[in-house]
Amino acid sequence: MVEFNLNNILRENVKKLIPYSSARSEFEGDAQIFLDANENSFGSPLTKWYNRYPDPLQKQLKEKLVLIKNVTAQNIFVGNGSDEAIDLLIRAFCNPGIDNILIFPPTYGMYEVSAEINDVAVRKVLLTENFQLDADAIQPAIDANTKIIFVCSPNNPTGNLLDAKDIEHLLKSFAGIVVIDEAYIDFAGIGSWIHRLDEYPNLVVLQTLSKAWGLAGLRIGFAYASREIINVLNKIKPPYNISGATQQLALQALQNEDIAKEKVCVLINEKGKLITEFKDFSFVKQIYDSNANFILVKVNDANHLYRYLLSKNIVVRNRSNQPLCENSLRITVGTPQENIDLLDAFKNYKA
Ligand SMILES: Cc1ncc(COP(=O)(O)O)c(C=O)c1O
Repeated sequence: MVEFNLNNILRENVKKLIPYSSARSEFEGDAQIFLDANENSFGSPLTKWYNRYPDPLQKQLKEKLVLIKNVTAQNIFVGNGSDEAIDLLIRAFCNPGIDNILIFPPTYGMYEVSAEINDVAVRKVLLTENFQLDADAIQPAIDANTKIIFVCSPNNPTGNLLDAKDIEHLLKSFAGIVVIDEAYIDFAGIGSWIHRLDEYPNLVVLQTLSKAWGLAGLRIGFAYASREIINVLNKIKPPYNISGATQQLALQALQNEDIAKEKVCVLINEKGKLITEFKDFSFVKQIYDSNANFILVKVNDANHLYRYLLSKNIVVRNRSNQPLCENSLRITVGTPQENIDLLDAFKNYKA
């Protein structure tokens, strides 16, 4: 097992950074009159009181997550979507113009976009034909400037879980950060890598409220990692990255986990039905196994089918320009009625 030392990979400017100190973190005790943050003590035109800056460390939200996820609050970072965590990780560990990240296409697009915004090079090792990590090709792609490896499992857009043994090998052999993006884990029916944080100091697990929890509009995502890594993310994040309204609504959602779980069950059931029905269409060439809330489907002419579905007011994701995804559409599982409408459109499609 390669030894991981956070200080070896943290950018010098981040090490030296004196973070922004927000008004409310500069006193202790119970003040009654808040004249420290240039807020508006009168309140706003709204009936709800959002005139005060929100808790920068989202303590209440984290208290609830601690119970659900069985980790300590110090292991949790809350981001404005997991996209914010992706960007902050790159900014914390990768020196622009010098360092690089490693990704495994076809995969989620924001790893590459965030790296490019930060002038960080992107190394790519394609997944194998069956969408697994290509173990032999990975080691040669890594050099001393490779700081982060992004692994997406279940993978977007292919939908499959990556082999745990391959991921574990990366965690053991790589001296940088291994990010396991579990945006779709709640649909996968397996445990999270969160429970391995104690074993792997270089592990970061990303999760989100945008998928199984149905809250993409709120923008809340999480990074789970060692206290040291979480401290770095908190040090460089914008002080009030999660609005007060968002914190309240997210907490309310987390208090109703059973409702979210019920919907996940329905979606998984609907996915099974769609897969069964898709098999009957001659223009469907391959249906890939999915551990997520979407199905990647290879068809005879993806561009044509994509445009046809649009003409029926149904929008799916055309992934044909992604490597290994020729003529493939990624179709999100919808409500039972939306899925019936999709299948009706398929029935009337003249390939
Ligand atoms: C694999 C993966 N990770 C992260 C995200 C972004 O999630 P969030 O909405 O939390 O920013 C997505 C969104 O589609 C995704 O597919």
